[in-house]
Amino acid sequence: MVAAIETRDLRKRYGDVRALDGVSLTVPEGSFFGLLGPNGAGKTTFINVLVGLVERTGGDAAVFGHDVERDYRQARDCIGLAPQEFNVDRFFPIREVLEHKAGYHGIPADEARERADEVLKQVGIYGKRDTRFDWLSGGMKRRFLLARALITDPDLLVLDEPTAGVDVQLRHDLWDLITDLNEAGTTILLTTHYIEEAERLCDEVAILDSGRVVEVASPDELMDRGTDTITVTFRDPPSSVPDVAAGNGHVESVDLDDGRLVVTARQGGLLAPDLVRELDRGGHEIVDLDVSRTSLEEVFVEMTNGQESTGGSR
Ligand SMILES: Nc1ncnc2c1ncn2[C@@H]1O[C@H](COP(=O)(O)OP(=O)(O)O)[C@@H](O)[C@H]1O
Ligand SMILES: [Mg+2]
Repeated sequence: MVAAIETRDLRKRYGDVRALDGVSLTVPEGSFFGLLGPNGAGKTTFINVLVGLVERTGGDAAVFGHDVERDYRQARDCIGLAPQEFNVDRFFPIREVLEHKAGYHGIPADEARERADEVLKQVGIYGKRDTRFDWLSGGMKRRFLLARALITDPDLLVLDEPTAGVDVQLRHDLWDLITDLNEAGTTILLTTHYIEEAERLCDEVAILDSGRVVEVASPDELMDRGTDTITVTFRDPPSSVPDVAAGNGHVESVDLDDGRLVVTARQGGLLAPDLVRELDRGGHEIVDLDVSRTSLEEVFVEMTNGQESTGGSR
């Protein structure tokens, strides 16, 4: 099966800045793929190369097997893009903007009108169809960008920071909508600053830093690498640290804190049952147990050194 996105050693230079410094990524058809990275990591540049807004300096990039430059038209027709920055024709009612866009992609006029109405309803701004883009609220502008991305019923939906600066309600609406689309077969490429968003939605994420791929894995796999914390509360606090989980390679530290046992370990969820049995055998009566899993955010910060990238200049 041909991948939705396939890049090999993709490069883009702006003067001395290596915005993309050899990016090789495969996004399988049907996946919900996250592109994470600090500011300036190269996420938008990667997307702009795919949709033909930016010319690559080197390497290969194909969308459903179509090279993004040599077969620009075919590649572009597969993609619906909701860009990070607003770039909308401000002087027409939004329904007309959608009809123009559909026409540009070869959809006949009567069908274009139907399709425009359909996507406006889908994103919940059908009531605003005769309004100009300028006059929409910030949240409605984001909804509109998604409607525009959907007008051609794309096989690949690319969302560049779609929930930046939107309120909680809209964020959840958008999550529901794109989850439904993905379940119906649309491949999704999502970039986001909200790591929690990727943790919830994506089945695979690539972490980008200074134009390079640091890691590709599922959010679960990444979180398994972080350190979890297990906190055990006893009926009678022990006076010294109980002898637990000796020799278990996953344990990183064991301490008593205010009478409670605090164990840090990788894959703490797997360790917890053994820990309970061990404490039980040792005669300690447990009244509460809490496993706090490391978040994708914490792992992400560690992998990117928690720093805003300078964009790969060296
Ligand atoms: N048109 C441009 N001209 C010069 N430098 C650019 C341009 N676009 C992006 N860059 C630089 O390329 C790097 C990657 O930017 P970008 O792809 O926007 O990152 P991200 O979307 O991950 O925040 C940054 O250092 C940015 O300053
Ligand atoms: Mg960006």
